[in-house]
Amino acid sequence: MAGLDDLKADLLAAINAADSSDALEKLRVEALGKKGRISAELARLGKMDAEERKAFGQAVNQLKDQVTDALAAAKASLSQAEMNSRLAAEKVDVTLPVRPESQGRLHPLTRVMEEIAAIFADMGFVIAEGPDIESDYYNFTALNIPPEHPARQEHDTFYLNVGADGSRPVLRTHTSPVQVRTMQTTAPPIRIIVPGRTYRSDHDATHSPMFHQCEGLVIGPDIHMGHLKAVLIDFCRAFFGMEDLPVRFRPSYFPFTEPSAEVDIGCSRAGGGLQIGAGEDWLEILGSGMVNPRVLANCGYDPDKVQGFAFGMGIERLAMLKYGIPDLRTFYDSDLRWLRHYGFVPSDMPALHSGLV
Ligand code: PHE
Repeated sequence: MAGLDDLKADLLAAINAADSSDALEKLRVEALGKKGRISAELARLGKMDAEERKAFGQAVNQLKDQVTDALAAAKASLSQAEMNSRLAAEKVDVTLPVRPESQGRLHPLTRVMEEIAAIFADMGFVIAEGPDIESDYYNFTALNIPPEHPARQEHDTFYLNVGADGSRPVLRTHTSPVQVRTMQTTAPPIRIIVPGRTYRSDHDATHSPMFHQCEGLVIGPDIHMGHLKAVLIDFCRAFFGMEDLPVRFRPSYFPFTEPSAEVDIGCSRAGGGLQIGAGEDWLEILGSGMVNPRVLANCGYDPDKVQGFAFGMGIERLAMLKYGIPDLRTFYDSDLRWLRHYGFVPSDMPALHSGLV
């Protein structure tokens, strides 16, 4: 038994002296593991006679319990100490500067569409929409572009497969079909803009097979060319942020408007660069006209009772002019460096109904 007392003193001293959970685990194995010192004592029981075994057995089991308890107590206090020192070492330094967060950018097309919408919203326009896949009727015929009309050739139309009814849907070549769709379902007065995607089979530095337009349509009993001019002059000046921007109406032709006018803004091309609002030169930015009476009639309106004007503009072109973006194709490259350069911080976006100027 004296041997057990020494073993006990030895083990408890070692447990008390242990300075880490790892050291404790080692001690546990040394004492209680299969080949441990206490296990060795227990193994001796088999060779003892009954009397001896009883006394020795009690003593070894008591020792085992004491060592087990001592190990548990030491482990608890060591892991608490280890936790405390980790908490002290790993504490968060709240005075460090925050990690910079990379903020997304809005595409210039999104920005310009919002700018256009904000300006027309101030003039009482609402947004209308229509499908990208359009029938031949809405894209052409209802707009006074019958089959064989030369204007159809100019549109470089994407035709889809012939449908069940024998007609051939198209990807809309302009947003003008939404004029017809709106007039067919809405009684005058009408004051809409139609921002949206349009498609033509054309691809170079100034043309993309998919691009964006914004249509406008105003219909009422006494809408006249003076309204068209006022609205479009105001729009051009608000969009480019120049109160005295020269705006010119040049006679033109569209099958769906009569008379028709191309709208030009003053610019200078001196020295190879383009400067809007300066100089003696002109730059075409949109098409417009009084809605052709035939189109009004196609939509179920009486051209003797209502009339109006329409206009259409290319959004990429306006974005390129306003923000100095040289190549149209870059709009669709999804190059993040380009987007970081030409994109806009969302919080800087104009709010609808607040206008720009
Ligand atoms: N739809 C014409 C185009 O795509 C633009 C336009 C719209 C012209 C409305 C006049 C009136 O070129």
